[in-house]
Amino acid sequence: MSRSCLIPAAAQRDGNDPIFALHGEAVRRAEAGESILNSTLGALMDDEGHLAIMPSVSEALAGIPPQSAAGYAPIIGDLSFREAVIADVLPAKLVSQAVAVATPGCTGAIHHAMMNFLEPGQAALAPSYYWGPYQTIANHTGRSVQTFNMFDEETRLDLEAFEATINNQMVEQGRALVLFNFPCNNPTGYSLDEAEWEAVADIILNMGKIGPVAFLLDHAYARFGSDASNRWVEHLPKMLESATVLIGWTISKSFAQYGARVGALLALNHDSSERELIANALGYSCRATWSNCNHLGLLAAARLLTDSELRERSTKEREGMIHLLNERVEVFNDLAGLADLHYPRYEGGFFVSVFTPDADKTADTMREAGVFVVPMPGAVRVALCTTPASTIPRLVDALDVGVRAAKSIAP
Ligand SMILES: Cc1ncc(COP(=O)(O)O)c(C=O)c1O
Repeated sequence: MSRSCLIPAAAQRDGNDPIFALHGEAVRRAEAGESILNSTLGALMDDEGHLAIMPSVSEALAGIPPQSAAGYAPIIGDLSFREAVIADVLPAKLVSQAVAVATPGCTGAIHHAMMNFLEPGQAALAPSYYWGPYQTIANHTGRSVQTFNMFDEETRLDLEAFEATINNQMVEQGRALVLFNFPCNNPTGYSLDEAEWEAVADIILNMGKIGPVAFLLDHAYARFGSDASNRWVEHLPKMLESATVLIGWTISKSFAQYGARVGALLALNHDSSERELIANALGYSCRATWSNCNHLGLLAAARLLTDSELRERSTKEREGMIHLLNERVEVFNDLAGLADLHYPRYEGGFFVSVFTPDADKTADTMREAGVFVVPMPGAVRVALCTTPASTIPRLVDALDVGVRAAKSIAP
């Protein structure tokens, strides 16, 4: 008999996220004197390898009166924060259809979505390339993640697979919670175009007529997408005719403030009594988990979003970060095209994924050469957010050798 006090399921858990484990190895080897290129973590680094931060955000944090910051935040977050986030994401005409609660980052938003829009034992639906912690959160809450094939033969969203799988879920579990992370999907870098969004909205509309459908847009990297890729909001009214739309919002990436743990879950529904039920359920989940979020962070985020001067400055600072990323994206696209690497359309964002028949082999081969990327089934994820433009030639060479090794083609 096991002597552990842990329940058996908990005794099987890995305490370290695999990406952080790879990052740790890269740091250890670099400290031991090796030349290491570490393209693992999802945090934007400048070309000198320092975390990119936004002075306007530091100023907003420093400007909050200590006594306000020290007090508990309201359980669902300050009204000023919630209203500011809703106004940040939605066009004026949709604001009245939305409620929001504060969460510790988008991670907290995903947690609340799993807890409240799926029964225990049911599965959320995500594309086959998705952010790994969706699965961790699902397991932890007694749910799971089912996937549909993400890319069709033209490396566009496989709409047929999406429609068939969600349809099947509606038949089998009577409801669906869809997790989409666009624009600038982690891990693939892919952003849906107009036609893809239109088709997705049609599918959600039709499925919502069969039974309860919640469509969650994970907005973590959306501010790094192009104007065109952010036209998804125009498709919300159609989805809202029959479904609930959830938006996971966070300051982690868009304000380069990962450590503050400030985010929100927005929920849109056309019916005011349903909105009230949702707001109550989400508030209950806040109390049952973290109780209150970081008050300093919530107040600072509210100021950043509503003080016109600070907002303008933060937008400019973010434009600088987007410029830095876009330079890297351009160099990557140029060189990866020449090396004949296969990867989805990539126009911006923190990551891109390169397809390979054996991701472990590719990542192992690259690691031997001191280049760290993250393997996952079918591809390796490259964090251009941590990769200075000057090192991209080395990265692409290593990818080329790694993919060839996986295909057993001589370099
Ligand atoms: C796709 C995606 N969603 C959500 C998150 C959660 O971020 P946070 O909880 O810091 O807001 C991340 C973080 O890496 C992410 O990559």
